[in-house]
Amino acid sequence: MCGIVGYLGNQDAVSVLMTGLKTLEYRGYDSAGVAYLNNGTLEVQKKQGRIAVLDDYLGTQQWQTQIGIGHTRWATHGRPSDRNAHPHFDCTHKFAVVHNGIIENFAELRERLLANGHKFASETDTEVLAHLVEEAYHGSLRLALRDALVQVRGSYTVVLLSEHHPDRIVAARKDNPLVAGIGDGEYFVASDIPALLPYTRNIYLLNAGEIVELTPDGINIFDFQDRPVHKEIFHVNWDAQAAERGGYPHFMLKEICEQPKALMDTLGSRLTAGGDDIHLDEISLTPEQIRNFNKVMIVACGTAYHAGMVGKYVLEKVARLPVEIDLASEFRYRDPLLDPQTLVVIISQSGETADTMAALREAKQRGCHVLAVTNVVGSSVAREADDVIYTWAGPEIAVASTKAYTTQVLVMYLLALQFAKVRGAITQEQTAAIVAALKQVPEQIEQILKQKEQYEKLAKQYCQSQDVFFLGRGLDYAVALEGALKLKEISYIHAEAYAAGELKHGTLALIEEGVPVVALATQDELLEKLMSNVKEVKAREGTVIGLCLGQCALAEETCDHVITLPEAPSFVAPLLSVVPLQLFAYYMAAARGCDIDKPRNLAKSVTVE
Ligand code: AGP
Repeated sequence: MCGIVGYLGNQDAVSVLMTGLKTLEYRGYDSAGVAYLNNGTLEVQKKQGRIAVLDDYLGTQQWQTQIGIGHTRWATHGRPSDRNAHPHFDCTHKFAVVHNGIIENFAELRERLLANGHKFASETDTEVLAHLVEEAYHGSLRLALRDALVQVRGSYTVVLLSEHHPDRIVAARKDNPLVAGIGDGEYFVASDIPALLPYTRNIYLLNAGEIVELTPDGINIFDFQDRPVHKEIFHVNWDAQAAERGGYPHFMLKEICEQPKALMDTLGSRLTAGGDDIHLDEISLTPEQIRNFNKVMIVACGTAYHAGMVGKYVLEKVARLPVEIDLASEFRYRDPLLDPQTLVVIISQSGETADTMAALREAKQRGCHVLAVTNVVGSSVAREADDVIYTWAGPEIAVASTKAYTTQVLVMYLLALQFAKVRGAITQEQTAAIVAALKQVPEQIEQILKQKEQYEKLAKQYCQSQDVFFLGRGLDYAVALEGALKLKEISYIHAEAYAAGELKHGTLALIEEGVPVVALATQDELLEKLMSNVKEVKAREGTVIGLCLGQCALAEETCDHVITLPEAPSFVAPLLSVVPLQLFAYYMAAARGCDIDKPRNLAKSVTVE
């Protein structure tokens, strides 16, 4: 992961870098550092801990420096420490680098560099880059960076600053994101657009294999053959305010509460004029192609994978098309059975997840049509897929994904409906009924959000639990997986999701007096079966919190506590039932005093394998 930023202009470089790093902290937050030229001398300040630690350390000092690079780290090679924090230097202390990614052959390179007499100051893979640049430098910073990088295997975005060239910054991108910003006589590079929004909305989106050079005269882009690359400026028209907390104590709560609006945005532009049908005009697939697919393969990680699980159920149910789902990190190495009749659906909020990107490339290499579902316009996934459906959730900052999930789930419904129509698997009346139910969802989520306090109360009651189990059948099982992930990632309580019928095959052994079990009971056809499983839990004295659509007498008499959601067809329940689970996780974490937006050991964008 890691966030990187570079600045060249007339402002105080250190404060511009620090502002950028604070926006990028979601990418990693175990240490941070800046390097800059002070009267021509390369200096560095770096500290273990959050950006705030570095900020305090730097104090209110005014810096007289107009060029610098910065980094916020998520450790891969070498534990978080001052020493391992970026920037890293070569032996002469003339070159400073910051890096996002993993140098896979670093051990080999380090050994060779040591044999050549280089001295290392850290345990990181990144430091080899500084020494490689030192060796490759013959007067051109850009060519030195290129010649260093051609020796590297792995993933990277790198930014380089040198005392030899006080008027320039060079950066290169392979797998990890990089954008360059054009201001008024000032130039930037960063991992992500929001870091640049206080200064400019004119951006170059850099591709893999490109090197960018910032000088006082502007920005130039080159490929690895050192040929100039011409690129259009991308003008950012979204609102910087959208990425701020707006009075909420945490981004996560803000983003949970933004779901009605996000879902309206996702659905709105895809409704037909009459409002009783949908279209997906943005995809290029012809009706013939859609009819010819014999399989859909959904590939994603984490929460996006859970959205894909809902997608599998709904696509199979309404489009009657076989769907497989795989974790991106598994898909890539298991030699999956794919052919040109397989549609590969890639789901990724950030559009930059390394495993997901690798899966996308694997699928394309095998001749599959790749359709991406992503939130980030211009992300790597969006650019490399054959088709993109944007979720339009708006910037999601909290590490725990919420509105990204519900909008991904909604897109899966839209995709299922579109495929079902083209393949003749659904009638117009059935389509209209599902669309009508989907249109109700934003308002129904508003109703759930009005009762936030009940989840806060519930969380206070259960926040000392060691374990929490989540049960469901069918679509409820898919949502249970997401409920468990939300709880464990932000509250650090052990949580597991089980297909309710599977409990008795092992996990029931863990149920004892007072163990909380959340039972999702939104699937009418499976309700009795689910309640039998709940009784198995009750017989072992577990405490059951049931979740139903509307009043449910059976749940009332079986569960210890029942959460009643607005009435809705079982088929669209995942869009509603996940919201109480998000709120439950949020308030559990709040009651335990956890760092909700930045949970330990995690980062928002996982750009390492
Ligand atoms: C969940 O809350 C996490 N943020 C995580 O599981 C995330 O969904 C996963 O890392 C995939 O990220 P992506 O959607 O950006 O590819």
